[in-house]
This record gives sequence, C-alpha cells and structure tokens, in this order.
Amino acid sequence: MLPQRDQTDSGSRGPEVAVPRPAMASERERVPEMPDADKSPVVAIANRLPIRPGDGGWELSPGGLATALRPVMRTRSGAWVGWDGGSKGMPATLPGLRTRLLPISLSVAQVRQYYHGFANATLWPLLHDAIEKPRFERGWWRSYQDVNSAFAGAALAALSDCPGAIAWVHDYHLALVPRLLRERRPDQPIGFFLHIPWPAPEIFARVPWRQEILLGMLGADVVSFHAERYRDNFVRACASLLADVGVQVNGSTIVLPDQRQVSTTTAPISIDTAEYRRLAADPETAAQIAGLTDQFRGRSLLLGVDRLDYTKGIVERLLAVEALLERRQDLRTKVAFLQVAVPSRDNVVEYRTLRAAVEGHIGRINGKFTEPGSDVPVHYLHRSLPPEQLAAYYAVADMMLVTPLIDGMNLVAKEYVTVQHARHGSGSMILSEFTGASSELREAIPCNPFDTEGLSLRVEHALALSQSARRAAITAMARYVAAHDVHRWVARQLRDIAAAARTGGRARMDRQLVAASQPGPARSPGPPASRSRQGRRPDGVRRH
Ligand code: ADP
Ligand code: F6P
Repeated sequence: MLPQRDQTDSGSRGPEVAVPRPAMASERERVPEMPDADKSPVVAIANRLPIRPGDGGWELSPGGLATALRPVMRTRSGAWVGWDGGSKGMPATLPGLRTRLLPISLSVAQVRQYYHGFANATLWPLLHDAIEKPRFERGWWRSYQDVNSAFAGAALAALSDCPGAIAWVHDYHLALVPRLLRERRPDQPIGFFLHIPWPAPEIFARVPWRQEILLGMLGADVVSFHAERYRDNFVRACASLLADVGVQVNGSTIVLPDQRQVSTTTAPISIDTAEYRRLAADPETAAQIAGLTDQFRGRSLLLGVDRLDYTKGIVERLLAVEALLERRQDLRTKVAFLQVAVPSRDNVVEYRTLRAAVEGHIGRINGKFTEPGSDVPVHYLHRSLPPEQLAAYYAVADMMLVTPLIDGMNLVAKEYVTVQHARHGSGSMILSEFTGASSELREAIPCNPFDTEGLSLRVEHALALSQSARRAAITAMARYVAAHDVHRWVARQLRDIAAAARTGGRARMDRQLVAASQPGPARSPGPPASRSRQGRRPDGVRRH
C-alpha cells in the first residue's frame, strides 16, 4: 500500500490553532475590517516582476510564480512589487491584467550583494540542506536588509493605495519584509510563502542572522511551505532559536512575545493544468512532436528538464545514465538521454562550476559510448525553450528523470504527467524522494539520487515496466495534479491569510481590552521583562 500523501493546504493545522471564537457585538464593531479572500485586492511582493521582454513586446514570464498568480492578476485589483531585473521601460501593467507592476531598481552593488550574494550564495544553499557551502558576508547581509527595506517601502505605498488588500510576500529573497510591513501596519493581513525547502534547525542555525530572519518571516499571519517536513523544520527552528526572545510554539502555531499568533501551513504549489492540456493539444506542439518522434525513432527517450542548478542532481543523473550504458551494452543504441538545462545565476561561482562539470560529463559519456555511424547517447540543450517545444519534449519522452538532491516542489514533474496524460501517453517518471512533489506523486518510481548506481537500476527497472502499469501510474498522477491545481492553491492561500488575519485581529483586540481594564500606564506589547537582556533591542535581537 502506498504511504498517505502529505496533508495539504491548511491540513497541517492541528486543533491547537486558535479558531476565531464568536465575538460579542460590541467587540465585533472594534475588530479591524478584514478582507474577504474571494474579492480583496492582492499586493504581491516577490523578487522578480512577472513580465519579460518577448518577440512581440512585453509578456508574462513563464515561471511558476507568474503562472500561479496569473488568475489573481487578471481578476483582482492590486499590485506586484518586484525587481525589474535591470530592464528599462517596463509597462505599468499588461493588457488583460488588473495588477499594477511596481518595479524596484537595484544598483550593480545590490545585485551583486543582495541577489547573487545573500539570496543565492547564502540562503539558497543554506535552505537546501547546505549541499553547497553557504557563504556568510556581513556586507551581503547589510545589502539584503537594505533591499528588503526598499521592497517593504514600495509595498507599503501600494497597500495605502489598495484599501483592504492582502499582502502576499514570496520567497527567501524577502524574508525580512513581513516584519517590516507589520511594524508599520499592525492590522495588515500578510502571508509569506517559501518556494524552497527549509532545513533541519541545526543547519539553519549556521546563519549568523538566524533570529532576524525568523522574526522577519514571523511578521506574517501565515507562513507556508510546500511540504510538511519543511514546515516542521521551520517550527522547530523557531522553538530552538527564538525561545530566548520569548517566542513560544504551540503545535503548528508560533506565539510571539506580544501574544500575536502566526499560523504555519503546508500548501504544495501546483501548475495550471488546463494550460498544459491546451499546450499538449496545440498544433505547434503537434508539429514539434512529429519532428522529435522521427529524430528518436527506435530509441527510448529519457528526459531531464531543469534550471542548471546544483540542487537538481543533474550530475548524478548523468552518472546513472553512464552506469546504465556501462552495464547494459545492448542499450547503447536503444536509449537516448536528453538534458534540457535553462541557464541560471551564472554570476555565482558554484553555478559556473556546475555547468563545466555537466558539460564535461556529457562529453565523456558521449566519447565513451557513441557507436561509429550512430547518434550520440546524450543530447544537451542549454537554453530556455518556448512552451510548445517543452510540451513536445514532455509528450515524446518515454521516461522523465526528476532527480533533485533536494527541491522545494519541482513543477516539472507535474507538467510531465499532465502533458503525458493529455496525449494519452504511458511514460514513466523517476522522482527523487527529496522533492516536495514526491509527497504528492506517489505513483512515480521513487529514487535516491545520491545513490547513482541505485538510480541506474531504477531506470533499468522502469524501462522493463509494462505499458499498462506505466499508463495507470501516469493517469493516477495526472488526476491528482488536476484535482490540486494552482487555482486551488491560490484560493486556499488567500483564504488562509484572510482567516488568520481575522483570528489575529481578534487576539489583538482581546489584548487591548485586557490592557485597558488594568490600572497603570498603557503597556506596549514586548518580550517578558525577565527575558530582555543587555545589549538587545526590545525584541531581543542583536544588531550587527
Ligand atoms: P525551479 O523553480 O527550481 O526552477 P521547478 O521545476 O519548480 O524548478 O520550475 C521550473 C519551471 O521552469 C517549470 O515551470 C518549467 O516548465 C520551466 N522550465 C524548465 N526548463 C525550461 C526550459 N528549458 N525552457 C523553458 N522553461 C523551462
Ligand atoms: O524556485 C525558486 C526560485 O527562486 C523561484 O522563485 C524563481 O522563479 C526560480 O527559482 C528562478 O530563480 P531566479 O529568479 O534566481 O532566476
């Protein structure tokens, strides 16, 4: 029997989470106006704006976050605060979008220190289990604080223009923003979603500014993760690293020194399945499929599609293919492996080193196994592809190798099963057990990518599976993804933020009522007096 899927959406909330109690009429009047999740405007705050220059002018970016928020941007007013990526002349919005785009420009030094430095050479490796060594530099941290302040400033201006809006902060680039918003707007509904993993507390504890980062995120009403294990790691980090500043953990709820409650939830992101089904049926995709079918006729096509990132396990995948071809000489002309790699973050040295390693392995494997007069066993595309071409690769691939060493979610896995199913395919998917997707796509063939020989045996096993077994697995996974698509994710996230803000509003009001009923000067909430230490700010956080 398959293990149970992770509890999704708000399912991780236990009964210990405060449920809004019915308020008395007089209290209800004093509760700040809270948004209706179905209608309220949304101010999204994310590192990048969701548009890019295309052939016919500016267009929506294809990335997961832009896709996820597309329905929100079409149907609700609001704004998106994000880095312009250095592009000039960005439009204020795009036709069909109600969202205003509010670009943040970064200086060359900020791009180097905040984006390439603290975001991608400190937090990215740290939060991915430190599989590459995180680098800690005080200059990067100061730049990260400055840039987070700039994002928060722009978000505050946008929120002032959008009464009743939900503030929705995304990802590790902006961990300090929720608290900066909370300090200026105590009643503001704020959600924070982390799109990448969260490591065990002992690993997170390595970052010198661990309390500031945790308290920054805890400015939100809800902090959400892709997988239950990441949420659990975060809660344990709060328990162990914030106890000395008066933070307490009550199940999945974090209670701050001023008694404000922060919910933590597990909410795996997904894809727009209707869009991938449409792509699968697109005539351009069909034309590409015809070409690829000819190109790989007589061979089983194994496919990898990733940003060129050291978390994705691309080298391990290549070593597994090599081990397979080494062991099974008969497969050398019957199997082709195609790796599509999107260039990524090549100003960070680890990414340049990875590219050299990947290309070195591909050269070596092809040199070793190409039969004279035959095609090479490993094909490699180092570029971004149009969606129809990517869909065509998904459609023709007999096997998808999704083998990250660690990955928050991995949308590629969900895209593959959706396109395969839409084309009535029977491809198989090998899926790393260290991805968020593995908690949901239980019919995939699981693998441990650190064990490259074991991975090659999984590939061999998958090649021998019957078509009916493969088809049944694809169907089950595609149905699961369709029932848990990105529209559902967005609706649940906004509903959770609105509900948690309402709960928080009542809790705040209760505190005010208690304070007002007590004699003596009004007390502002803060950490318990016995816990404040010399040299700390009132919230207990040291400044460096
Ligand atoms: P990550 O967010 O770490 O990059 P995901 O798998 O969650 O990883 O998302 C990657 C996204 O990038 C997917 O939506 C996928 O379709 C897209 N993508 C991956 N490779 C390419 C490519 N070569 N061209 C265009 N889009 C790509
Ligand atoms: O999945 C994590 C993530 O940082 C996304 O937020 C982003 O779209 C993707 O990786 C690509 O990263 P970058 O914006 O650094 O190119």
